[in-house]
Order: sequence, then C-alpha cells, then structure tokens
Amino acid sequence: MLVTMKEILDRASEENYGVAAPNIFSSLDARAFVEAAEEANAPLILDIAFMIHDKYHIGYFAKELARNSSVPVAINLDHGSCMRDVYEAIQAGFTSVMYDRSTLPFEEGAKEVKATVEIAHSVGLSVEAELGHVGEANNYEIDKDAALTDPEEAAKFVEITGVDCLAVSIGSAHGIYPEGVVPKLDLERLEAVKKSTNNLPLVLHGSSGTTDEDLLKACKMGINKINICGELLEAEIEALKNYDFSGGKAYDIYTVASRALKTKLKEKIKLYGSWGKAWTAAPKGLDKRENTMEEH
Ligand code: CO
Ligand code: CO
Repeated sequence: MLVTMKEILDRASEENYGVAAPNIFSSLDARAFVEAAEEANAPLILDIAFMIHDKYHIGYFAKELARNSSVPVAINLDHGSCMRDVYEAIQAGFTSVMYDRSTLPFEEGAKEVKATVEIAHSVGLSVEAELGHVGEANNYEIDKDAALTDPEEAAKFVEITGVDCLAVSIGSAHGIYPEGVVPKLDLERLEAVKKSTNNLPLVLHGSSGTTDEDLLKACKMGINKINICGELLEAEIEALKNYDFSGGKAYDIYTVASRALKTKLKEKIKLYGSWGKAWTAAPKGLDKRENTMEEH
C-alpha cells in the first residue's frame, strides 16, 4: 500500500526501529526491494535519486508497485535541492520529498525549507531535510568532523521549518569508503539530537560501510530511516561477476541481479529492526493526497 513517509517514520520512531530506504534506478531494483520488504513483512521507503531525469516514469511504476504491495511503501525524492525538483516529485506521484539545503547558512536554509514544507504539506507530502552536512566517503578523513549536527540548532530548525524528519550528520558519509577506512558513528550526538527534537524521526545518509554494531545501536537510539545504496550495488555486481552465464544462461541476468539485491536488503531490514513491522491498513485510505481536502 502506498503511504506517506511520515506514517512510516512516526511509527518507527515510537517503536525504536529503522526502515530501509534503498535508492532505486530502474523497475528491476524497485521490484526486488518491494519483494524483499514483502518477504520480511516490513515497511519500505523507495528513495529516488534527484539526478534521475525521468522522474515521471520511475514515479509511475514505483507508485504502481507500492499500491499493489501488501506492505506500506513510501516514495521519496532523495536530495531535492530546488523547487523544480519538488514540483516534479509532486507531479510524479511521490509521497515525500527530501529538501536538502544543508550547505546554506542556518537562517537561509531554515527559511527555504519552511517554504517547501508549506507547499509539500498542502498537497499531502512529507518532507525530510538535512542539518549539518553529510559528506563524501572518498573524502572522509578530511571532512568527517566538518559539519556534524548540533543538537540545539536541530531543535531550532525543526521548530522553524515543521519538517517531518531530519537527516543528521553523525559520522557517516555518502558512497564507498577507501580501503581500510571504517566510519564511526557519534551515538552520543545522536542521543542528544533525538532528545532536543522531541523524538523526531531521524535519518542516516551514507550508511554503506558502517559496522553492523553501530547501525544496530543507531536504529535503537533514534535513527528511523536508513539510506542505503553502495552496499546493495556492490552485492549486485558481485553476484553478476560470480555467476556462470555460459550454456545459454544469459537469460538469468535479471534474476541474478534482483536476487542479490533482495538478499542484501533483507539482511539490512533484519539488522535495522523493521522485520515484521508492516501493518495492513492505512489510517486514511491508500493515498493520503486524495484525502488532503478533508483535513483542512
Ligand atoms: Co535541482
Ligand atoms: Co544522501
């Protein structure tokens, strides 16, 4: 069933677990992830990267997959950064947008996010923002401490903007880390941000490469959405490399790829604690946006 991200994350925050938010690039991976969530009976967030040009096409089939799924599925725009991204996501049928203005000075960023929250909420979409800035894994040693989320600022930001969830910078970074680099999460900071924001659902970007131990703790301590991409792609590449396609088995290529994605995502769902956490009926119908008028 298609739901907003807020519905998924409010429950996750209340019950202290994390929900997987894999990046999707095609109908093949989207389908594999929805099947994984169904087998795990877990809620799922499909994160569509901002750089995908054909948001209408990907939004269309993601929405069909979500609507026909037995588990709650939200469709979120990952790292939108201009109003064009937001309007496209609304038009394409997403149920949530991330509006990332984390590189702007505090006041300016808060002002822009607030304006987007007003627009998105008026048509029933949830909004994720980022405070502090999650950097790149290949530059980890240099910028790992550069822009960690400040708990007091986070409280102020949430109050000004009215966001539904917040991506925090607590020691992770986007992409694949260089050989030998293991990121360490600042769990004390996480605890302080969760407290200062009155238990707002929090999001971890750049989870690939983080130890299972850190992820397990983070999900119990307030991280409720875990963005994952690199590790899933690595599992897919690995499976394709190791498969013997000789003897007319070229047709297996899509099955091999989706099976690898599914297996890896199920492992993650178990680790995050959302296994078995799906519910069966949305409180206000399948698509919140169809009910927006009633709420005002
Ligand atoms: Co843009
Ligand atoms: Co990110």
